[in-house]
Amino acid sequence: MKSLIYANGDHMPAFGLGTWKSAPGEVKKAIIEAIKLGYRHIDCAAIYQNENEVGEGLRECIKDGIVTREDLRITSKLWNNAHKKEDVRPAIEKTLSDLKLSYIDLYLVHWPVAFRKDITFPVNTEEYLSLGEVTLEETWSAMQKLQKEALTKHIGVSNFSITKLQRLVDLGNQKPEMNQIELHPYLQQQELIDFCKNNGIHVTAYSPLGSIDRPESMKKDGEPAPLENKTIKRIAAVHEASPAQILIAWALQRGISVIPKSTNPKRLKENFEAQKIVLSESEMAQIAALDEHTRIIDGSFFTAPEKGYTKEMLWE
Ligand code: A2P
Repeated sequence: MKSLIYANGDHMPAFGLGTWKSAPGEVKKAIIEAIKLGYRHIDCAAIYQNENEVGEGLRECIKDGIVTREDLRITSKLWNNAHKKEDVRPAIEKTLSDLKLSYIDLYLVHWPVAFRKDITFPVNTEEYLSLGEVTLEETWSAMQKLQKEALTKHIGVSNFSITKLQRLVDLGNQKPEMNQIELHPYLQQQELIDFCKNNGIHVTAYSPLGSIDRPESMKKDGEPAPLENKTIKRIAAVHEASPAQILIAWALQRGISVIPKSTNPKRLKENFEAQKIVLSESEMAQIAALDEHTRIIDGSFFTAPEKGYTKEMLWE
């Protein structure tokens, strides 16, 4: 199992389980199945609205002696409506209570976008807070406090561009230890990965299989589907593997963490076994050539120009 190593020597398995879109009624079973298969890294978030059921699965596995808490690496994320300094601690406390844990291993600022406290998903501009009203620095300082208080072992961000990461690095104190971003062959983000590597920031790939189960409102006609790509399918045939396994192996071989989501026992096993696949240099190069710089999660659902949120500003 490949691991990522933090500056203090802590390890995290590079391969993990995604839980975005895992239905509350299915995710407990999936967590138990995954842990039995050997998964030790689980990626969660408050906004996935299933942390309570994820926590039931974790509790059962620990109670039954399948794993200890220390064997697991659990990630969660601060939602956009809790960026103000006084809201950050209550947010992690809710997540800890849902997950039924006394600490998490990695806590991420989910998006560089802020909402009013009472808003889960804004429907008008007034429901956003601009990054002038609540700065990324304010939120980051509150995240550092959580780490000092040992509510989370490590802290990081998600969906952050080089410019936004640089702002936090320039503060000169604890920098983000992780940036979780969309990564698959159609969106390879090599420059951002290089920036992270040069600054000691680990990278996790979300939507590594193309998130075909995302809500209809997040789909557009003609969007690429990595699982259907001909090159990926051809390489899969050579390895007697599935396209999903090749996408996972490719991510791991780039030295990053990858968190494919499944709630299906057969696919959970298939994905876990992808860790054994080794791609040749030529195969890595063929996949590198597929980049189209195309986002599946383009952030257009966070549009409020008067508050400073446009698709362009999000990623710049
Ligand atoms: P399911 O949960 O039914 O297995 P992503 O991780 O990019 O968000 O993609 C998740 C989607 O990919 C889900 O629809 C999931 O379905 C599906 N999926 C997960 N593993 C595989 C696999 N090995 N082969 C095909 N589809 C998969």
